[in-house]
Amino acid sequence: MLDGKKILVGITGGISAYKTASLIRLLVKAGAEVKAVMSSAAKEFVSPLTIATLTKNPVYTDFFNPENGEWHSHVKLGIWADLYVIAPATANTIAKMAHGIADNLLLTTVLSARCKVMVAPAMDVDMFQNPITRQNIDILRSRGVVVAEAAEGELASGLTGKGRMAEPDDIFAQIEQQLAVVQDFSGKNILITAGPTREKIDPVRFVSNYSTGKMGYAIAECLASRGAQVVLVSGPVGLKPVNKNIRLIQVESAAQMYKACVEEFPHCHAAIMSAAVADYTPKAAAPEKIKKNGEKEFTLTLVPTPDIAAELGKTKGANQVLVGFALETENEALNAQKKLESKNFDFIVLNSLNDKGAGFGYDTNRVTIVHRNGKTCPFELKPKTEVANDIANELLQLLK
Ligand code: C5P
Repeated sequence: MLDGKKILVGITGGISAYKTASLIRLLVKAGAEVKAVMSSAAKEFVSPLTIATLTKNPVYTDFFNPENGEWHSHVKLGIWADLYVIAPATANTIAKMAHGIADNLLLTTVLSARCKVMVAPAMDVDMFQNPITRQNIDILRSRGVVVAEAAEGELASGLTGKGRMAEPDDIFAQIEQQLAVVQDFSGKNILITAGPTREKIDPVRFVSNYSTGKMGYAIAECLASRGAQVVLVSGPVGLKPVNKNIRLIQVESAAQMYKACVEEFPHCHAAIMSAAVADYTPKAAAPEKIKKNGEKEFTLTLVPTPDIAAELGKTKGANQVLVGFALETENEALNAQKKLESKNFDFIVLNSLNDKGAGFGYDTNRVTIVHRNGKTCPFELKPKTEVANDIANELLQLLK
């Protein structure tokens, strides 16, 4: 299954582009999110409308939309994708890829792609056998591009030989193989908290923070894709879990998050507390909207919320692992160490608001993992999906 996997399909101008429509159907049916980039020659063989309908996404053909100037960023597409498959890949596109030419959106995205790139060559037998093409395919292979081998058979030219694009089933199987994730968390139940909490002041107002839940959701997706059964207790965010192994419990306040976590933790092997839980909540929420009272000051009395992490730390069994987060604005390492002990965390993920590109709302984060024994692992700034993988790897060591 390709649940939640993001696949970018590049289509170049070969007759077998019609087969790419079937490949896209297979990918979508398997749960992948698919976007497509087409070269201008590809549009002569298959209509962008067909591809857009099948992918359920607009098709990218140019760097910008000539009607409204909207910019289609090759960098964004390259970062978005978990895998970029170019099918069919013509001799021309293969040659350009081998030599770093980037004269259209499809090729420019090849250069900026951070993910695995796959090509499904498709051309006439003589072009395919041409030593230049052979050499170009070898260059791509040597740079880590996966080649879905062309097949033998009748060709559109009427000739017979090697050069037919691999069948959609075959390309699909190779994509699945490339994206196969080791199920090293299978059989593990993991509780994750994510997002902010909202503490009610009155029926229309609340106290909250800037957390978007991106980090917690990335951890949930990562663990679920590695086979864990995840219970995601989430405050109000604009995200939705994708993987079927994630059970979402939506809460609003710290008290509700506390209740859900205390109920779920006994059934879990580990908990990762990535939520930005409010430390204080209004002493009592006003039953009606609080009216403005002239120019007079207004005082809101706040009382502490239950510390969810500390409570789980108290009840933690010998085989359970508890992971905390710390966002500090000063004395980061010292405060993280203190929190590690006071809440009985096994390790803590320290992120700092002082780092550019890290923290609330960003898609990237720079974290340092601090263990109970003082072992400290600093990581560079990277996408939250990769940070999630680093955290999962640390957790796995403790669960073994
Ligand atoms: O003490 P501080 O709030 O900075 O600790 C942060 C860690 O504790 C995070 O892992 C956070 O999710 C967790 N926490 C919690 N319940 C609270 C406050 C924080 O679980 N009420």
